[in-house]
Amino acid sequence: MSKKVIAIANQKGGVGKTTTVVNLAANLVKEGYKVLCIDFDGQGNLSDYLGYSDGQYVITDILKAEMSKQLTDEDIEGVIKHSKSDGIDYIPSDISLSTADMFMATAIGRENVLKKVLAHKCFDKYDYVLIDCLPSLGILVINALVASDGVVIPVQTQKFALNGIVQFEEIIELARELNPDLQLYGVLETMCDNTNMTKAVDEALLQMYNSKVFNTRISKSVMASNSTAEQKALSDRSKLGSQYAEFTRELISRLQSENAMELDGIEQGDDE
Ligand SMILES: Nc1ncnc2c1ncn2[C@@H]1O[C@H](COP(=O)(O)OP(=O)(O)OP(=O)(O)O)[C@@H](O)[C@H]1O
Ligand SMILES: [Mg+2]
Repeated sequence: MSKKVIAIANQKGGVGKTTTVVNLAANLVKEGYKVLCIDFDGQGNLSDYLGYSDGQYVITDILKAEMSKQLTDEDIEGVIKHSKSDGIDYIPSDISLSTADMFMATAIGRENVLKKVLAHKCFDKYDYVLIDCLPSLGILVINALVASDGVVIPVQTQKFALNGIVQFEEIIELARELNPDLQLYGVLETMCDNTNMTKAVDEALLQMYNSKVFNTRISKSVMASNSTAEQKALSDRSKLGSQYAEFTRELISRLQSENAMELDGIEQGDDE
């Protein structure tokens, strides 16, 4: 299997994107896959989570080098960090990424910069590349979607959860003009509880996205913030941790059936 690039995205802030990236990555590693996470948010939350300390090279340096056509595999290897506790590789980010709108705005092919970065050979050793998107609809999110095979949208099942989802779909459509094969791998309900609000959002999502809503739902729990504070993925002995393990298995099996369909398509194409 060639590497799968997955964007975890939603322009709403605080819906569980970063938490999902960390725990999906940790569970993929447990399943035996080689995983790279890209922190694509100037807040640098994922980098903090994975133990990055300031002052080293970050994703911004990679994007700039790519734009000036000077990026080498060696440069990239120099930026990739290895998280000791979870066995995850990652490319960190810091506040400098917030200037991307400026340094990318007028460049030709500005939507394709990350895609070109990921075409470098040194990424071939990974089974999964997970992109932790910032909460926005700007040029960085477009770059993430253009560079990805598919997108997972975490949705917090709380008030106003669905505001802005239409705009998010528009940005997916825009990305598809440059990346026609971009898939919606699914919608992950996060921070679920027993309230009517969770029920209402769940029903609305099922109406809109049908079987694209993952069967696994992530509960609302302080365990999430504890794990953020401890800079560690959730233990699968915890309720939330086992939900993320289950979500990981569900995603893997979706990707496997997608792969099988692609192969079918190729074989049918050959017959013609
Ligand atoms: N299932 C959950 N239950 C309770 N709190 C959670 C849950 N998942 C995440 N959180 C907490 O909610 C906050 C936001 O989560 P997270 O950083 O993962 O969201 P995000 O979508 O990446 O945010 P941003 O848009 O700012 O990047 C964090 O403090 C996190 O610890
Ligand atoms: Mg985040």
